[in-house]
Amino acid sequence: MSGQPSYDPYDRAGREDPYPGYSELRDRCPVHHLDVPGVEVDRINANPIVARPTTDFYSVARYADVTALLQDNRTFASGQGPGPERLVAPDGVGMLIYADEPHHTRQRRIVVAAFQPKVINPMRPDIERICERRLDAFEASGAPADLIAGYAEPVPIETIALVLGVPAEDRDRFKRWSDDTLLALGGDAEAYERSYRSLVELQEYFSQAVAVRRKDLAAGTEPPNDVLTHLIHAEYEDRQFTDEELLMALQILLVAAVDTTNHAIGNGVHLLLTHPETRELLAREPDRWGLAVEEILRYEAPAQALFRTTTTADTVVAGIPIPADAKVRVLFAAANRDPAAFRDPDEFRIDRDPSEVRRHLSFGRGAHACLGAALGRTMLEIALRTLLRRLPGLRLDPENPARRDLDRFHTRTWATLPVRW
Ligand code: HEM
Repeated sequence: MSGQPSYDPYDRAGREDPYPGYSELRDRCPVHHLDVPGVEVDRINANPIVARPTTDFYSVARYADVTALLQDNRTFASGQGPGPERLVAPDGVGMLIYADEPHHTRQRRIVVAAFQPKVINPMRPDIERICERRLDAFEASGAPADLIAGYAEPVPIETIALVLGVPAEDRDRFKRWSDDTLLALGGDAEAYERSYRSLVELQEYFSQAVAVRRKDLAAGTEPPNDVLTHLIHAEYEDRQFTDEELLMALQILLVAAVDTTNHAIGNGVHLLLTHPETRELLAREPDRWGLAVEEILRYEAPAQALFRTTTTADTVVAGIPIPADAKVRVLFAAANRDPAAFRDPDEFRIDRDPSEVRRHLSFGRGAHACLGAALGRTMLEIALRTLLRRLPGLRLDPENPARRDLDRFHTRTWATLPVRW
C-alpha cells in the first residue's frame, strides 16, 4: 500500500510515546500492513527460542474496527497465541487466550465458574492486607525507593497466589516461579532457560496441589473455598478439566493476572502523581475511585495490543482487504484514544461520563475479553487507594526520573518509578 505512515511496531524508541503514531494510523492508515524481509531478533529484544517474530502482519487502529474485529472470533482466530510468534499448543488445542472454538467456550465456562464473585469478593480484606504488608516493607526501606520493584510487582503476585490457594509459606517460591515465567516473554537464551526450569517446578507444584485436593475430596475433607478448588470441580457439558488442562489454565491465569495488573498499578501511580488535581479530587470524593480506575486503564492500556493469529478467510477491515492466514494486531491502546469514541481522548480526566469511559478496550471485548477484569479492577483500586492513604506525601523523585521499559512489545509499563514521601 502506498503512502503509508512510517509506523514501525518494532521501533523501540517509538514506545516512549506511542500515541502520536497511533493517531497517525487512525487518521491515515487504519489498517497498517507491516511486511519486512526480516527482523533481527536483537532489534526487538525478543526471546530467540520462544519468539520467532512475525514480520508480516496487519495492525488495526480505529475503535469501530477493533470492536467489530474482536467480536468476530470465527474470522479472527486466536489459536496460535497473542504474541508476535506463532505457537503450536502441546496438545494441539491450546487454552483460553490460545484457543479457538469449539474448545474455547468450554474452557472459559469452567474458569469463569471458578472466578465467581462469591469466591473473589470475600478476598478483598486479604488483598488490602497484602498491600499494607508490602507498604510496611516499602516504607521501612526508606526513601527514595522504586515503586515498581517494591510494590507494583509484588502485590499482584501475592494476590494471585492467594486467589489460587497457594499457602502463605509457599508464596516466596511462587513469586520466583512467577517472576521467572515472565522472563519467557522477552528475555535472552539464559532467561529462557531459567523460565523453563521454573515453569517445570511450577507445574510440579500445582500437580501435587491438585493431587492433594483430589485426595482430600475422596476422603470427605471439606476443600478450601478458593479458585483452585473450583477449577478442579467446575464442569461444562458434564466434563471437568483434565490435569493437563488444569496446569495450562493455571499457568495462563498466573501470567495474565500478573503481567497486566503490575503495569496498571505503575501506570496509575505515575498518572496520579503527575495530575495533582485528580489526586486531590479523589481525596475529597472517594466515590470517584471506580471511574478513576477505568480512566487509568483507558489512558494507558497495560496491554497496548495483542494478536489474532490467523484470519480463517479473506476479509475486509475499514475497506482494506486482509487475506486468509494473516496475523492481525489489535491495537486496544489506539482504539482507546480514538476521538470517534472518546471526547478529548488525549486528556486524562476522571470526570468523564461513566458510559463513555467504560467503553475502553483495555480488557478486550468479545469471546476472549478478560475474564479476570473484576479482579484486576479490584487489585488496581485497592493498591492505589492503600498507597495514597498510607503515604500522603508520595511524589516522584526529582533526582531519578522514572524510566519506561521499552523492551516490551505489547506492554505499556515503567521499568523503574523512583519515589519519595
Ligand atoms: C488490569 C489488569 C488486566 C488487564 C489490563 C487485562 C487485559 C486483558 C486483555 C486485553 C485480554 C484480552 C485478550 C484478547 O482479546 O486476546 C485479557 C484476557 C484474559 N485475561 Fe486479563 N487483564 C487483566 C487482569 C487479569 C487478571 C487479574 C486475570 C486472572 C485472574 C486475567 C485473566 C485473563 C484471561 C484468562 C484472559 C483470556 C480470556 C480468554 O481468552 O477467553 N486478566 N486480559
